[in-house]
Amino acid sequence: MNATQSRKGRIAEAFSSRAGVYDRSADLQWLIATRLAERIEPARFVYRPRILEIGCGTGFLSSHLKKAFPAADFVLTDVAPSMLDRCRQRVGRGPRYRLLDGERPLGLPCSFDLIVSSLAFQWFDDLGAGLDRLRDLLAPNGRMMFATLGCKTFAEWRDAHAACGFDCGTPDYPSMETFPWPAERGRLEEELVRQTYPSGHDFVKSLKALGAGEPILGHRPLPAGAFRRLLASLERGFTATYHILYGEIRR
Ligand SMILES: C[S@@+](CC[C@H](N)C(=O)[O-])C[C@H]1O[C@@H](n2cnc3c(N)ncnc32)[C@H](O)[C@@H]1O
Repeated sequence: MNATQSRKGRIAEAFSSRAGVYDRSADLQWLIATRLAERIEPARFVYRPRILEIGCGTGFLSSHLKKAFPAADFVLTDVAPSMLDRCRQRVGRGPRYRLLDGERPLGLPCSFDLIVSSLAFQWFDDLGAGLDRLRDLLAPNGRMMFATLGCKTFAEWRDAHAACGFDCGTPDYPSMETFPWPAERGRLEEELVRQTYPSGHDFVKSLKALGAGEPILGHRPLPAGAFRRLLASLERGFTATYHILYGEIRR
């Protein structure tokens, strides 16, 4: 297994290990799935659309879409087995459930009217290549609609590291300008959502509770003393920005 594969394995394992408690810590993820669902207007699609979801997690977006598209043919996928199991429990019979790395969507037909994803693409190793492969799965006139993280996400966490002279393990997310796609085929909008925590420590705990603590490839965790120093600088409260990019890509 090479280093990239093992990062993906760690991501899958981390989400799987938190699947039973994910929903309790996932207010923001619920909010974004709801906002994304509101953008997906059923009237724009055929009566019985074929819908593929990437990174369905415990089924926040899937459950919204199941109501909005009662006749749709769904394929719900995730890279973490236990997240997929929770999704099956929430959404129930009807959809097909597939364990799948959304960045390498092998064995799927190229016939989806709609491909959706809420807060999963930020885990891709190569977002541009992953989006290209997914776009190839769209039927003529098909659309991909997603929410993912943008470059201002966790700016405060990066600043706190810089102030202490430490490297930060938060991945470099794209901006509106650097988003890796053919812009003539897409549309991108952004939103900033801020969450306040009693301390930096609570922020870290909340990410771990979701299974979302995996740093960028090659990042070496701070030594315990340095981490304590970092958290000591954030004891009086911590606000984290989530920079959400809502995208739409046409075939
Ligand atoms: C933050 S959760 C979001 C889950 C759900 N969409 C929601 O809104 O609650 C991210 C999900 O993406 C999944 N994921 C991460 N990398 C993935 C990949 N390469 N392919 C498919 N799913 C992936 C994780 O297992 C996890 O379930």
